[in-house]
Amino acid sequence: MYDSFYGFKENPFNLTPDPQFIYLGENHREALAQLVYGVREKKGFIVLTGEVGTGKTTIIRCFLQTLNGNNNTRAAFLFNPKLSVNDFIQYILRDLGLTIQGTTKGDYLYTLYEYLINAYQNEEKVVLIVDEAQGLNPALLEEIRLLSNLETSKSKLIQIVLVGQPELNKTLSQMNFRQIRQRINLRHHLQPLSEKETGEYIRKRLKIAGRKQPLFTDKAVKEVYRKTKGIPRLINVLCDNSLLTGYALDKKIINEKIVKAAAKDLKLGKKPPASWKWIIPGILIIVGFISFFFIQGEIGPFLTLLQSLKEIIPSGIQNFFK
Ligand SMILES: Nc1ncnc2c1ncn2[C@@H]1O[C@H](COP(=O)(O)OP(=O)(O)OP(=O)(O)O)[C@@H](O)[C@H]1O
Ligand SMILES: [Mg+2]
Repeated sequence: MYDSFYGFKENPFNLTPDPQFIYLGENHREALAQLVYGVREKKGFIVLTGEVGTGKTTIIRCFLQTLNGNNNTRAAFLFNPKLSVNDFIQYILRDLGLTIQGTTKGDYLYTLYEYLINAYQNEEKVVLIVDEAQGLNPALLEEIRLLSNLETSKSKLIQIVLVGQPELNKTLSQMNFRQIRQRINLRHHLQPLSEKETGEYIRKRLKIAGRKQPLFTDKAVKEVYRKTKGIPRLINVLCDNSLLTGYALDKKIINEKIVKAAAKDLKLGKKPPASWKWIIPGILIIVGFISFFFIQGEIGPFLTLLQSLKEIIPSGIQNFFK
């Protein structure tokens, strides 16, 4: 809509993980390097976590692109792990370009094993990447663990990368997954971009989209960082909306006021509804109680009430009563 107004060839803040627009901040670069290292050195299990929208899938796509230029690594990429065990193994076979033979799980596993042994003999590496792994059900997770058991006396036959939101760590820390936990050789937690990186990210996207002159003022970039905390998906949403607002107001340059207005429309950077509205009535009720006991001259029940509160309230407040 605003493309020609701002001199873009294409939309700079699309929400698709387009490798053309990739920006690698320090932490993203490290994540990518760990993936490359882990697969090259056959590290077995690798886990990549990160908050929603920090760029995990984008990094994986970038990693797959790196692999494409590399003849000795084959990859299966599972982007939706809500599958039954059988569907899961069939999916891997298909993604590796294998013809499915037989109808039982044993048949599928045999085909996979043969393929892996073949790859090993040809000095090829095979990697399985499971995105959205926080949604894996325990049966599938167990199946993945069993796949990681496929090995020769010298080396793992398949490297496995689990990618997911921080809940994945919670799942893996459960007692029944301790065998997987022991097999994880590399872990990386993707961080949001820093303020400086947020500026570079925005400028890079604008430049690739065809904008030659600066568009967001420094203060506007600062505001984008403040509202998004450096999370790339939110940066895209906020910048896109700021451009729309700027276009509607006929502004050739995006300043912090425009960003603030766009963030307000998007309800970005707003704290969750405060519990203040409960705190004031709560205080009033307590004060009411205390006054009631004092007016009645009955200090005994009041002390009993304090005693029972002591057991449920944090120690900091307890010290206050001492
Ligand atoms: N390093 C990056 N370079 C360029 N754009 C990025 C980068 N990381 C993220 N983005 C942008 O942010 C959007 C969200 O990123 P992505 O889908 O990779 O996040 P995610 O961590 O996988 O999120 P979710 O937890 O929802 O799966 C992408 O579509 C892309 O537009
Ligand atoms: Mg993702």
